[in-house]
Amino acid sequence: MPRFPVGFRWGVATAAYQIEGAVAQDGRRDSIWDTFCRQPSVIKNGDTGEVACDHYHRWAQDIDLMAELGIDAYRFSIAWPRIQPAGTGGPNGPGLDFYDRLTDGLLARGITPMPTLYHWDLPQPLEDAGGWLSRDTAARFADYAALAAERLADRIPLWITLNEPFIVTAFGYALGIHAPGQALMLDALPTAHYQLLAHGLATQALRAAGARQVAIANNCSPVWPASDSPADQAAAAAYDTLHNRMFNDPLLLGRYPDLAAFGVDEAGLDCVRDGDLAVISTPIDALGINYYNPTRVSALPDSPLPFQLEPIPGYPVTAFGWPVVPAGLTELLTQLAGRYGDALPPVYITENGCSVTDEPAEPADETTADRTFDDQPRIRFLDGHIRALADAITAGVDVRGYLTWSLLDNFEWSEGYDQRFGLVHVDYASQARTPRASFSWYRDLIAAQRMSQRLARDGDQEG
Ligand code: FCB
Repeated sequence: MPRFPVGFRWGVATAAYQIEGAVAQDGRRDSIWDTFCRQPSVIKNGDTGEVACDHYHRWAQDIDLMAELGIDAYRFSIAWPRIQPAGTGGPNGPGLDFYDRLTDGLLARGITPMPTLYHWDLPQPLEDAGGWLSRDTAARFADYAALAAERLADRIPLWITLNEPFIVTAFGYALGIHAPGQALMLDALPTAHYQLLAHGLATQALRAAGARQVAIANNCSPVWPASDSPADQAAAAAYDTLHNRMFNDPLLLGRYPDLAAFGVDEAGLDCVRDGDLAVISTPIDALGINYYNPTRVSALPDSPLPFQLEPIPGYPVTAFGWPVVPAGLTELLTQLAGRYGDALPPVYITENGCSVTDEPAEPADETTADRTFDDQPRIRFLDGHIRALADAITAGVDVRGYLTWSLLDNFEWSEGYDQRFGLVHVDYASQARTPRASFSWYRDLIAAQRMSQRLARDGDQEG
């Protein structure tokens, strides 16, 4: 494994609704995910995040696991409905207390807390008032961000505003497969703008409340045309616009990409007001990138969305069926650096990982009941992607950290608990945590990186 730059941060990522449980405790009220999960047949097996990994009660044990792993940084999310159960007013003290304890617990173990303010759990009352289709939600988000920062900014160096606004727009409001379950197709586009506006307003509010560094986590994907035909190439460009440029251009360049392929004329989206783009492009200190796989698309004529997604043959797939393409990470990062040049801030990989549905291996000998989880596909996945990340750094991209998704198996949204993304296996019946083989592998990688940096530093001092 190549040596990563001095100061490079290794970590893991999770999200509140996927691990916390305790959905009605200490004043928390419903988010759109609580409501969505109650609808019949929207989530696999009728699963919900009601209990999840019970992390709300087991957080101390979970951060002990992180300390054992030796990570530098932990990306978690703060549940908005714990801080402002009605989406306005507040703050709800016991909700803030939880993240206060977590923050101090992490710091005591030498781990930098890296919270995300919005990982999809919008307070239900705000959805009832229009959700991300309403401009007002952006202002509400900035209020909430200020409340969190007023309490925690003295101990938190880097804040992440939103997680994957593209997925919220696409899955939550265009296709309806995530909460709040609206299937508005292109009429969902204002949700992109209002989320970006929320990010910009929150960035300003966070700074005013003492936050030092602010970032956002965008899910990005290199886009491959299914063929060389002009039609497929145009389809790939359109998909790239929607998935990548729509969320990166306004942040980094202060303008939206050309949306003509989606019937939006030169005047742009109706919901954009004067001054919005200046707010959205308030400089950020880092860009979080969540990378899972490339996207291959072909043309789909006479359709509101001028493309369709195609399988990517010739690569291994994860248990989720996602193609494993480590070089896609190098491609994505070098493309971002080429596209945005000096406007690209330092990058963190804020998520990357894979689902492995492994059954426990038989105990090594009959005298031990210990189960082991030999998740070799995850080790291969991580190894490939971390090497691909090193390639991007060698090519000149300024990447400061890598946070794998995820520490624990957790509630994988509409897939329920079937998909298992954890370095640590969770037995949901007993809540037992069992580190998998990948946990030891990642621990050893982090330790080896630290050692080789120390040796390099000592060498430099001697030389
Ligand atoms: C990302 C989400 C994260 C997790 C992974 C597998 O899109 O941000 O919560 O579900 O996918």
